[in-house]
Amino acid sequence: MSNSLELLAVEAGSCTMCGLADGRSSVVFGSGDPAADLMFVGEGPGAEEDRQGVPFVGRSGKLLDRLLDEELGIDRSACYITNVVKCRPPENRDPRSDEIAACRPYLGGQIRAIDPAVVVTLGNFSSKLLLETDTGITKLRGRSYPFGDRQLVPTFHPAAALRGGAEVMARMRSDLVRAKKLMERVWAH
Ligand code: URA
Repeated sequence: MSNSLELLAVEAGSCTMCGLADGRSSVVFGSGDPAADLMFVGEGPGAEEDRQGVPFVGRSGKLLDRLLDEELGIDRSACYITNVVKCRPPENRDPRSDEIAACRPYLGGQIRAIDPAVVVTLGNFSSKLLLETDTGITKLRGRSYPFGDRQLVPTFHPAAALRGGAEVMARMRSDLVRAKKLMERVWAH
């Protein structure tokens, strides 16, 4: 399925479906294994991601890398990482609903092409979008949800864990352990 993912990446590379196209240096489509069983979905690129064209390479990304290693025992190359919006919102503001809607087909296409068994949503934007709910992440997290024929594990955004201290970090770690347990079933087959 990497062919359709590549085609989608090319399409996204010249996308002008929303205003975020105006301010971007690069389209941050996603990175990692195009056949991954595990996929992470964040919010949107920050300044460093926009510069490098790679998701989660700034402070949040460093924490995500560490948690992947410590809780799942994997490197980012063993999973696929992307965001709800592929272009950086100015001043790191929240993505707007029209921007999220414009970018939604890319995320849908990525999920279909990669076909992961487990999707971990990082923070409110990806969790609410994929679970189609207005409920916030604090209430959503702590369990997994059926997501088509996959499982979805919502957790905090790493930026929230950086801000929120030990309590938030501990909950995020326990969500990642939940994802790991689901992955162990996949890896066992
Ligand atoms: N925050 C996100 O949600 N995504 C990134 O790629 C970086 C920071």
